Amino acid sequence: MKKMISASLMCADLLDLRGSIRALEDAGADWLHCDVMDGHFVPNWMMFPDLVNAVARETRLPLDVHLMVEEPLAMLPRLKLRPGDILTISLESTRHVHRALAAVRGMCCVPGLALNPGTPLCMAEELYPDFDHLMLMMVNPGFAGQKLVPQSLDKIARARALLNERGFAATRLAVDGNCSFDNVPLMASAGADTFVAGSSSLFTSDLGLKEGARRLRRAMEG
Ligand code: DX5
Ligand code: ZN
Repeated sequence: MKKMISASLMCADLLDLRGSIRALEDAGADWLHCDVMDGHFVPNWMMFPDLVNAVARETRLPLDVHLMVEEPLAMLPRLKLRPGDILTISLESTRHVHRALAAVRGMCCVPGLALNPGTPLCMAEELYPDFDHLMLMMVNPGFAGQKLVPQSLDKIARARALLNERGFAATRLAVDGNCSFDNVPLMASAGADTFVAGSSSLFTSDLGLKEGARRLRRAMEG
């Protein structure tokens, strides 16, 4: 499976998002990761639907929209995404996760399911046919710049094995949080194929985005 860099826009220059989007396109990011936070599901606030829609109009790169909001179903009609954009629901954010994933498929987006570090993989088991993208949080969601929850690495390998065993080898396995140059080779050898690149790699202040992306691609090879 082709390995993907999903560049986290919450770590970009928020006062120059258009410039950051151009620079990320030039640096070879595969997707733009848009974190949406409501101050309830997570104790922080970040991108809102109209801003995500504006990003979708601005770039030809696919968006990787990560909803960290209570009642995600209520937000879906406000999102104007394009076929092929990924739209990820946090499993813990709704009692009706199956319904929410079905609604995402109905929007012609790629349905994604995110699991918090404390959520066991078996919680996703009945939903395998309903998502094409499993995103394992390597940190508690809500903030950039946190340290990896160590047992998350083992969770990656178990998730990949379970998906393969059950006939879902084509389901992508993404990791979000502390994808540093040191952690990414371990994540990749555990079976991750998609890396949310934030302050731990792409946006480190001393490297430019292009050099950050080059180093990240090398790390992704394991
Ligand atoms: C965490 C966010 C990430 C974060 C990852 O809730 O979803 O996108 O920006 O970047 P790091 O951990 O490298 O700062
Ligand atoms: Zn995210």
